[in-house]
Amino acid sequence: MDIIIKNGHIIDPSQGIDSFGDVVIEKGKIKEIFLLNNKNNKDKKRIKKSDEVKIIDATGLYILPGLIDMHTHLREPGYEYKETIKTGTLAAIKGGFTSLCSMPNTKPVNDNNVVTTYIQKKSLEEGYCNVFPIGAITKNSQGEELAEIGSMIEAGAVAFSDDGKSLMNSLLMRRALEYCKSFNVPIISHAEDTFLSEYGVMNESSLSTSLGMRGIPSAAEEIIVARDIILSELTGSCLHIAHVSTEGSIRLIRLAKERGLNITAETCPHYFTLTEDAVLDYNTNAKVNPPLRTIKDVHAIKEALKDGTIDVIATDHAPHHIDEKNQEFDKAPFGISGLETALSLSLKLVFDGILSLSQLVEKVALIPAKILKIPKGTLKIGTDAEITIIDLNRIWKVEPSSFSTLGQNTPFAGWELKGKVIITICRGKVYEFN
Ligand code: DOR
Repeated sequence: MDIIIKNGHIIDPSQGIDSFGDVVIEKGKIKEIFLLNNKNNKDKKRIKKSDEVKIIDATGLYILPGLIDMHTHLREPGYEYKETIKTGTLAAIKGGFTSLCSMPNTKPVNDNNVVTTYIQKKSLEEGYCNVFPIGAITKNSQGEELAEIGSMIEAGAVAFSDDGKSLMNSLLMRRALEYCKSFNVPIISHAEDTFLSEYGVMNESSLSTSLGMRGIPSAAEEIIVARDIILSELTGSCLHIAHVSTEGSIRLIRLAKERGLNITAETCPHYFTLTEDAVLDYNTNAKVNPPLRTIKDVHAIKEALKDGTIDVIATDHAPHHIDEKNQEFDKAPFGISGLETALSLSLKLVFDGILSLSQLVEKVALIPAKILKIPKGTLKIGTDAEITIIDLNRIWKVEPSSFSTLGQNTPFAGWELKGKVIITICRGKVYEFN
């Protein structure tokens, strides 16, 4: 089925487009883009309207390249009670994402080409969006021996991380960076000094003391951010720092970038939307690793998004079963289910004048594609037609019970958010949401 999306406001930073127009899709690829008042529009009459052409009226809506989440926990294989490839990718589509990267902390861990291939095969068979697996840096993510990085790359892994755990052995991290450099793939660092954070369940502060909960100091993150920047300089390898949560990490990353190092960084919507106060009533849905920090950190993250120190917004979608989150705060697992709220929470940055919509699209589509070296995040002619159409004015209420993800663990339940995905186009299918 061919598609014409008409009269939308097209935003595509990869081509510098921020203009009204139409997008024509033929055989699943972008065929033409007609911008208002562009002389190429005379070609428009060449496009035949037939029964096989679906016309989408995007009047009043924004047309964006399909979003890319470079940090998702899909949980399959092994933890299908938390999430499956099917439910996770459907949640992605609902959230406007047409591609995602799946973190390797599954069971078994994605530390070899068999698991990498399994995830890809299952995604093609049952998934709704593109899935790019991230392989583990070390076997079983145990931090003791390098995993089969080369064979996972051959099988399609696009990056390597022991996310969920920190690789504490600096020599292994150095070797992994050197090895990945020869393949030109990034290492994604979960930065946490586990000696400092051990048994911590929330940010370390006067609040953790008054709540009687063990804290995770900012230094636990910052020490490993500093170490990995130093190792990236030593090896010249590309390093991506996951889920940045502290002002101190930002200071280190900003300095590293000023010095021209090969470093990129991401944060997640919860780190610029919430503070540690979200756990005041022992709400386990706000228990996340790294933990929610202070208002000073929130301000620093917004500033870093604005000045480009933070390149990417990722979800760190971490679905858990409701029974796991319904435990004492100490026992509940870390994680927030993020795919279905990420875009709307991030649009607040646009409404507040921190980012333009085009800059936001760079952080959720174009830059992830560049870091991962995948031909996505663009509406360039000839590329796969992966498109997200949003209504900036639509106000909707977060109702976890109507999520597509199995993980209802969100601290945003009941929130009214502005800006909503209306249509996602992926792999030749049009998904419409109201
Ligand atoms: O909160 C988190 N949950 N942080 C991580 O790094 C891992 C994730 C998970 O896998 O649940």
